[in-house]
Amino acid sequence: MKRTLGTCYYPEHWPEEIWEADARRMKDTGLTWVRIGEFAWSRLEPTQGDLKFDWLDRAIETLGQAGLKVVLGTPTATPPRWMIDKHPDMLAVDADGNPRKFGSRRHYCFSHEGYKAESDRIVKLTAERYGKNPYVAAWQTDNEYGCHDTTISYSDAAHTAFCLWLEKRYGTIEALNRSWGNVFWSMDYNSFDEIDLPNLTVTEPNPSHTLAFRRFSSDQVAVFNKRQVDIIRAYSDAPVSHNYMGRITDFDHFKVGDDLDIATWDSYPLGFLEDRVGASAEHQKTYARQGDPDFQAFHHDLYRSVGKGRWWVMEQQPGPVNWAPYNPAPLSGMMRLWAWEAYAHGAEAVCYFRWRQAPFAQEQMHAGMLRPDNADAPALIEARQVADELRDAPEVSAPRAPVALIFDYDADFAWATQPHGAGLSYFQLVFDAYKALRKLGFSVDILRPGTRDFSGYKIVAAPGMIYMPNDLKNALAEAEAEVVLGPRTAARNADMVIPVPLPPDMPGLDVTVSRVESLRSDMPLPLKGGGTITGYREELEGSAETLLELEDGQAAAVSSGNLTYVGGWGDDITWMRVFSQISNRVGLSTLDLQDGVRCRDTDALRIWTNYGATPAETPAGRIEAAGVLFEKI
Ligand code: GAL
Repeated sequence: MKRTLGTCYYPEHWPEEIWEADARRMKDTGLTWVRIGEFAWSRLEPTQGDLKFDWLDRAIETLGQAGLKVVLGTPTATPPRWMIDKHPDMLAVDADGNPRKFGSRRHYCFSHEGYKAESDRIVKLTAERYGKNPYVAAWQTDNEYGCHDTTISYSDAAHTAFCLWLEKRYGTIEALNRSWGNVFWSMDYNSFDEIDLPNLTVTEPNPSHTLAFRRFSSDQVAVFNKRQVDIIRAYSDAPVSHNYMGRITDFDHFKVGDDLDIATWDSYPLGFLEDRVGASAEHQKTYARQGDPDFQAFHHDLYRSVGKGRWWVMEQQPGPVNWAPYNPAPLSGMMRLWAWEAYAHGAEAVCYFRWRQAPFAQEQMHAGMLRPDNADAPALIEARQVADELRDAPEVSAPRAPVALIFDYDADFAWATQPHGAGLSYFQLVFDAYKALRKLGFSVDILRPGTRDFSGYKIVAAPGMIYMPNDLKNALAEAEAEVVLGPRTAARNADMVIPVPLPPDMPGLDVTVSRVESLRSDMPLPLKGGGTITGYREELEGSAETLLELEDGQAAAVSSGNLTYVGGWGDDITWMRVFSQISNRVGLSTLDLQDGVRCRDTDALRIWTNYGATPAETPAGRIEAAGVLFEKI
């Protein structure tokens, strides 16, 4: 597979006279792709019906003539100001009941029928006009669904749509009352239209109600996206993509991805480090200029399985950004490393955001590949190096992994609905397991929760899947792989009610979670032999064999046949102990990688990366600080 590079460009930000020189310079840098158009609605339609696509025609022509391939974005993340007068109630409403305002972006509610019709209209105009344009080689729908907390809206439009969604799901109000346990606190309803959105209640709403609303809100994103895709496909054969974000889990990306050809994501390693990785202050300091060594990799592996396997980095951090609590510059070499790391995980393309730093508006402190004065910025120099290397480098073939981890957005909604303890989140739990696997040297595939065929994997882990359908339980119990479950596996039924028999009720595993507790972060429970259970703990009953034991003698992890159950939230050492014991059973050899050093296997190469600020030793030899090492396997 030929790996490529690209950038994100805003021709509407710059005088037309410089477009051609920009395009030539992109090409000379070794770029293939240029994404444009995703925020340009006010320049395409300055007032309603006054269509001005001529400039976009010329921009596409100029870029295409220079030999670049265009990714054309639909502009629906930025509805223009006039539209708010036309549809004042299209704005999303926050949990306090306040409409969000015009003046930035993503200010629409996914449920508003009037806005959906506007979206259909502008997408149709764009797709009709450019569907057969030879330079438009891919599409992007909207921009970063869910970013800036925009999946969930408590608007009237959302309320109307939610009642219909509930009726479709439950059929009768009696069934809904029964499934949710609405006898509790006299919450019974007599009809679907009596059900309100679960905000502004006196104390917490019924978790079944909240979870249903989270699922509904997620479905609204998928519906909105599919409408755009269907319109684009009526006019174009070019692949359609969407750019997802890091640790945005409030809509089911697998459902959105099913309608797309390419999953892409926007990777800002330093921006994410402070508030999305969930790392200690010390770790943040160590990696302030490099990013977390596993966070990008996790998303690469996740987005490879969102959709049909084709995936890109649509936006790659190019230097300091503007939006994190602190915005340091990357260590020299990191912008090259991030690109190679993405290719190692199977990315077809890596596009740096953005071409030239904008001296105006919200992102004036966000670096680009060029400085505002047109001089090369460090990102351009490192991108050029990657382009040169790609010319001579061995083909980076398909990634392969012996270990799989299931990621389930629905479980994330459920944990967020009922975390049971401060700071407990499903994403963090799965990410902790992932980090341990990577530290042991494993390449990991992330699987969707609908997976039933686990053949080819030696280990499959599904921590925290709070609702687990019976056919998945059976498939895991029958898998040839070793399977790692818990905590909270199958702890609720599909409607967020505790099932009886008590969880996990797994065929072939005699263990019952008899009691659960959440723990302050300063009361970890030590394990015999090292490691702790922290934050959340389950007491286990049953005859399964003990794998890890707490210092007080109670079981913390148990095994029977191919199934292992971890009864609590393990720290890094605990997860590594679980996975290395299981690896031994199946004859998989493990490494104990130095902090910051990670590897990823493709068919022919093991690609090593060093997120450390000093050189490190790997089994394949020495690796420079912020360096990449290619090992033939
Ligand atoms: C992304 C977004 C871009 C730009 C970038 C800045 O989230 O898609 O439009 O805002 O962040 O880092």
